[in-house]
Parts: sequence; C-alpha cells; structure tokens
Amino acid sequence: MQNRTLIWLQWLAIALTVTFGMVAGEYFKPFNVSYDHRALIIDGQRRMLISAGIHYPRATPEMWPDLIAKSKEGGADVVQTYVFWSGHEPVRGQYNFEGRYDLVKFVKLVGSSGLYLHLRIGPYVCAEWNFGGFPVWLRDIPGIVFRTDNAPFKEEMQRFVKKIVDVMREESLFSWQGGPIIMLQIENEYGNIEGSFGQKGKDYVKWAAEMAVGLEAGVPWVMCKQTDAPEYIIDACNGYYCDGFKPNSNKKPIFWTENWDGWYTNWGGRLPHRPVEDLAFAVARFYQRGGSFQNYYMFFGGTNFGRTSGGPNLITSYDYDAPIDEYGLLSQPKWGHLKDLHAAIKLCEPALIAAESAQYIKLGSMQEAHVYRGNKSICSAFLANIDEHKTISVQFLGQYYTLPPWSVSILPDCKNVAFNTAKIGAQTSIKVVDFDLEPTLSAKNSALMIQKEVPLVSDSWMTFKEPIGVWGDGNFTLKGILEHLNVTKDRSDYLWYITRIYVSDEDVLHWEDNEINPSLIIDSMRDLVRIFINGELIGSARGDWVKVVQKVQFKQGYNDVMLLSETVGLQNYGAFLEKDGAGFKGQITLTGFKNGDVNITHSPWTYQVGLKGEFLKLYATKDNESSSWINLTDDEVPSTLTWYKTYFDSPGGKDPVVLDFSSMGKGQAWVNGHHIGRYWTLVAPKDGCQETCDYRGAYDSDKCNTNCGKPTQIWYHVPRSWLKPSDNLLVMFEETGGNPFEISVKTVSVKTVCGQMSEDYYPPLEMWAHPNYNKMTPVVHLQCEDGYEIGSIEFASYGTPQGSCQGFSIGNCHATNSSDILSNVCEGRKSCEIEVSNSVFGDPCPRTVKTLAVKATCKPSSSSSSSTQRYAGVSDI
Ligand code: GAL
Repeated sequence: MQNRTLIWLQWLAIALTVTFGMVAGEYFKPFNVSYDHRALIIDGQRRMLISAGIHYPRATPEMWPDLIAKSKEGGADVVQTYVFWSGHEPVRGQYNFEGRYDLVKFVKLVGSSGLYLHLRIGPYVCAEWNFGGFPVWLRDIPGIVFRTDNAPFKEEMQRFVKKIVDVMREESLFSWQGGPIIMLQIENEYGNIEGSFGQKGKDYVKWAAEMAVGLEAGVPWVMCKQTDAPEYIIDACNGYYCDGFKPNSNKKPIFWTENWDGWYTNWGGRLPHRPVEDLAFAVARFYQRGGSFQNYYMFFGGTNFGRTSGGPNLITSYDYDAPIDEYGLLSQPKWGHLKDLHAAIKLCEPALIAAESAQYIKLGSMQEAHVYRGNKSICSAFLANIDEHKTISVQFLGQYYTLPPWSVSILPDCKNVAFNTAKIGAQTSIKVVDFDLEPTLSAKNSALMIQKEVPLVSDSWMTFKEPIGVWGDGNFTLKGILEHLNVTKDRSDYLWYITRIYVSDEDVLHWEDNEINPSLIIDSMRDLVRIFINGELIGSARGDWVKVVQKVQFKQGYNDVMLLSETVGLQNYGAFLEKDGAGFKGQITLTGFKNGDVNITHSPWTYQVGLKGEFLKLYATKDNESSSWINLTDDEVPSTLTWYKTYFDSPGGKDPVVLDFSSMGKGQAWVNGHHIGRYWTLVAPKDGCQETCDYRGAYDSDKCNTNCGKPTQIWYHVPRSWLKPSDNLLVMFEETGGNPFEISVKTVSVKTVCGQMSEDYYPPLEMWAHPNYNKMTPVVHLQCEDGYEIGSIEFASYGTPQGSCQGFSIGNCHATNSSDILSNVCEGRKSCEIEVSNSVFGDPCPRTVKTLAVKATCKPSSSSSSSTQRYAGVSDI
C-alpha cells in the first residue's frame, strides 16, 4: 500500500512537472545578471532589452496572463512593475499578498511566459497611486519624516523592502535561482526632491543604496533620476525622451526606466494622447545613441480600482494611452507599430552588443547616423532626421535614403531599411463602447434575433438615504479644526465637521435692512467641501488648498453649520508628504454679522468619520437584503447623499464590460462587493484639443489632447471575473444627484480595422533573413480581436486612395478589383494578409506609387471561421 502511494506521488510529481513545464519556482536555468558600460549582461551576454510596464493591482489576476502574453507578442523581453506598499501592508505588520496583490503569482506568470522582470520596490513609488504607495498609517509613526535620514522612516522602509526581497528569494524568483527577476529599484526619482532635505537627503541616498545592496538579492539595483547614485547602483533616466542621457559614471549602461508613452488624467481634464510615430522616434533615438534598456511607462495602464487613485484629483481610469488599453485590448496602431519597431531593433542586437560604442556620421545639418559594427562584418545603422518639418534625402555609405521629418530609419545590415518610425504599417482599430447586441436570453431559443431594446442596467432600483451629519456612535466633539487625515486615517474619503451657531434678531434685521447675505469663508481647503446649513446643501467647492467663500442664509436662533470634507486621492508626489494633510487650514469665519465677523475656527466641532452606508457595508453582497433599503420610484430620484442599488445581468460574450455613469454626479460604485472606483462626471475644458494631431516635434502632455467639453470619464471598467451571468449587485453612493435609471451596461470591442500601406513600404520584418528580402513586397495585415472575424470589406482601393480609417475615399487611380480581392481573402477569417503589389491587383496606373487602403468590419466569429492567414496573388516569398 505504502509502495503504491509512493508510486502515485512520483507519478503526480512527474505529471505536475510536465503540466507546468518545470519544477515549481524554476522558470529559467539559473543565470547571473551584471552590467558594463554598454548593457545589462545576462548569463554572460550583453542584451538590448525592451520592457513593458504593467502594475499588477491595476488589473485582476484573471487579466494578467493575457496582458503578459500581449506584451511578449508586442516584443517585450521584460515586464516592469512597482511594488505597492499600501496594498501589501494595509495595517502595520499585517501583510497582504492576495488577489490583485498576489505579487508572487504575478512574478511567476511573467517567468512562465519566458519574460524577465524588473521589480521597483520603492517603496515610495509615486505612480499616481494613493499617497505615492505609502500606507497612510506611516504618517502616524512618532517623529517620522519620509524619505530622508530619519530613523523611524528608515526602520519602516527597510523592514518592508527586506520583506519583499525575502519573499522573492523564498519563492526562488531571482535570476540566480532560475526566476525572472533580473533587476530591482530602490526609491523613485528622489533626485527631484533631494534638495529639500539638505545634507540629510544626501545621507539618505547613501543609506538607501547600502541598505538595498545589503539585502543580497544578487541582481543589480537601479535608482531613477538620481545623479548622485553610488558607483554600484545604476542611475536611470525617466521622461518623454532619454536619448543623450549620460549616467553618472562611464562604467554604467544607459537605461530608461520610464518612457512616458501617454499621460495620466485629472477629473475635469482632457485626455492626452502621444502619437506612436513620435514614441517610436524617441525609442529609436535612444538605442541609436547608446541606450540598452527602455521601459514603456505604461505598456498597460489599467484601472485605479477602489480608492487607490492618487492625487489629488486623479481619475479612476489609468489607461495612459498605453499600447494595451485599460480593458486589455490592443490600442492600434500603437501596439503594432511598436511591435515592428522592436523587431527592427532586435535585428540590430548582434551589432549593438558587439560594438563598444557607435561610429557617428553627420549626414546633414539636422541629420545623423550612428553605425554599430561587430566582427564578421556585422553592421547595423540608425539614420535620424530630427528636422520637424522637412523630408530629407541623405547619402549614407554610398546610397540615398529618404527620411521623413522627425524620424529614424533602422538599417539592420547598414544597407536595407527595415523600419522607419514615421511610417506606420500596423493596422488601425476603432473601438466602440456599445450595448450588448447579443440576443436576449428569451430570444435565444427562437429564430428571432432581437436586440436589447432597453440597454439600461435596470429599471428597478432601491435606495437608502445617507444621514446628513452625525449618524453613529463614533463621533466626538472638541474645540478647533482638526486636520482631515489625522481624523479619518484615510479609512474613508469623507469627514463631517459640524458646529452650531446662534443668530440673533438683530443680525437677521441687519441683513434684511441692508440687503446683505452673510458668508462662510474657509481660508484654505482641499480637495472638496460640501456646505450644508441646517441639513440643506447650499454649495460646494473644490481645489487644492483654495479659499472658499460661500453665501449662506441663516434663520434666527440656532443654526447647524455642517461641512462634509472629502479627499479625492491623496497626494502622491513631493517632499514632506507626511505633513501633507487635507481638509481645512487657517480660519473659518462667518462674515456680514451686525457686530462684525464671527470666527468659528475655535468653536466646538463635532466630527464624524465616513458614511453610515460605508459603516453598514451597504455595498457587500453578504446580508445585503437585511439592510434598510427601500424601493425607488422613477418620479422621485433623490439627489444629495444617496445610496442606490440594483441587480443586473452581464452582457454575453467575452468583451470587456463597462458601466456608463454619464447620468450620475459624483460618488463611488461597487459591483458584487468589489469597489470599482470613484466616479465623477466633471467636464473637461472646451478648448485645448487639436483637430488633427501632428506627431512631429517634441511631445508634452498638452499636445494631442481629446475629449474637450465632455466629461473626462463616463465608462467604468468592471472586470469580467467580478461578474456572474446574472443578478450582479451594483451599489452606488451618489453625492449630488444624477439619475440611476439611466445607467447602462456596455461592452468594449473592436468593430472596425483598417490597413493603409504603399508599394514603397518595407516588406514584413519577419522575412528579414530571407535571401530575397529586398525584392519582396510589403504586406497589409488585418486582424480582429479574439472571438471575432472579418465580416465585410467596407472599403478597399489599390491606387491613390485618400483619407484615413475614419473616412477613406477613392482617388484618381483605383483598381476596380480591389474590394473583390480583399473580400475573397479576408471575409470569414480572424486575420488576413495581402501583398501591396501589381501582381495582386494588376497595375491601375503605371509610374505612380500606389497605396492599398482597406477598411473592414469585425463581427463575432462563427464556429466555422478559419484563422488561416492568406497571401493573395503571385508571391516572391
Ligand atoms: C514619474 C514617476 C512615476 C509616475 C510618472 C507620471 O515621475 O516616477 O511614478 O508618477 O511620473 O505618470
């Protein structure tokens, strides 16, 4: 019997090894990581590395494998993430590594996909994360001053950093253990604030570096934006451009830890976009000028679920205009163009790692070449035109090359152009946020395909009125104004400040006689205050330490002044965060009284932390029925401070799901007990958006903005794994009004894909090694997302078509067979490829450079659809 158990266990061990392809914890043959002046050295070899920034808690564990796979397919070698202290140690000494904070699982997924990992422990991370990643309890440690030579801070920081390194080591996740971690980071852009701390700042840098290295993690450490990083730490660059960056020692390689490929967004802000031609230009320039590690911040931005959004005032979405969008769908052509760029850089890798430095050749006043040569005639070159306006023809090693403005051509063999950063070959995808157009459950059995007529999330809502002011035993009264965070400890966004004043007959007469109104003045306030007098909301103000002046009306006798102070994400950047509180500063005064101003700062104030609904956990699925909810009729939509709940069905299919809150005001929402985030329908300024976005010239976050005059965010991601097919509990806390009856549930999908490519474009990069590469023709590639196939060809023209995916039109020259050929090759398939050449379409206009433009629809795939890619026509390949 015992023997049989043993055999069974042995069999199980073999089965597990086969299933997971490896013994747990070993993702690679153990390897060493070091570096020299040129690059990271992995297992004895220099490497040119592309890294994809993905922050694990900004997605669900269910989304991680797909995000990692899409990063790998896009050409990443490395995944980079911060470590989020506030999530891992919500209560001092109580660690959390579960769910979205299952860091070990995330690192293992990266390892099992064959990618490396750059772990930025911080533990200050900035990252538009609440309080920059610090747990809020940290500010309560006596005598603490953050991020300087301060004993209490250093003790806490060291404990946490050590904890993370220990966990990673115990799980065998470092490279020398066969794990994916090749590099770490301590601190984050400390150089920006170091000056505020004088000598102590300098001492802190030394201490942090020594402490980190003393943990003996066995892989290199990075400090970003740290010009005084010690000899044994790599100092790295962050920014929109990092070509020309020089580390503080010629023994260190040139690393770019944050390439900002988009930007974050404020409530009431416009949506920034960084054009991919400029992004590719920045990346190509970086490797051209000696860089060897570059990370996209972010490759996937994701969502600030719960109250993790930093601040003040940052929105719930952290889409960042990244190559993979907030929902995990590809942003095209961004993702595809970068994929091509990465393939081109990889073709140069042998030359880039062989050469100690580049040979520089000036090609023109604003044009230059960098040539990398190894032995055995290995040679790769980058030709740059940094002129923002002109296309320039340059001569390089005896041949002519045409360089579009603000672009880099990559020549992996110093002869043939494999890629130019300004010429996009990748497809464009247009996404729609739509109602579920799947047949409803009842219609599924019948032959009729009925579309949902009412796309609303529900026509049946329940409500619970949040009390105005004091609601529970936890309140207390004392004289004076307390700082908001000292009271709430960030357990809630909300804090009530309540006081009572007496208004005499004379005051009322004085106001009537002189036709004046008294005012409430708060010297300084952040982030938001709602002012209630005797239970009535009379005004609100928002801002970052702004003065508030609000006209008020009092009755004769006692009046309750009730201030609801709200935080909207805690400050995540800057020195002295521990002192950076919220609520009110200075004096609170009532003006316009008969005997002059009344200073109520030092009056007795009653404090109540949070909302009754939060305390009752109205959002939880457990015991939800037992709470005091009542039915809401659609003719009496209550406004101020109200809870709503309903149940809704999930849309069919696998497309990402969003809730459309455009009918609401401000508040928070939960689905099946998961906090999906704050919502707010603040509108972006009307001006400041450009009709067209010109990629040329240096990017900043004010360039290429969209969404002017519209609410900054109306769609809120509900990850599929948080949903059941039906009866999903949606609970909302609404502060100002809005109409829950108009909330709808929608899905996000790619419904249109386009390709546009000229005959003189380069052939597919994967054919580079083919002996006839330079005789090959370019190929348009179209692909629908998983679960979709190409439905119909809406437009196709081989000739001189005009316009873009939003609107193509036929030009003077047009091959009449274009649509038929495209339909034939593409319809009914997940993806298709077609050569851009006369051999496919015939020649509609000799001696003219022709372009193929295609626009196709994607529709849910039928089970019979084929995913085979097809080339049409006579092929050289
Ligand atoms: C950097 C910082 C990142 C992030 C970024 C802006 O300065 O290191 O954490 O905040 O700015 O998205």
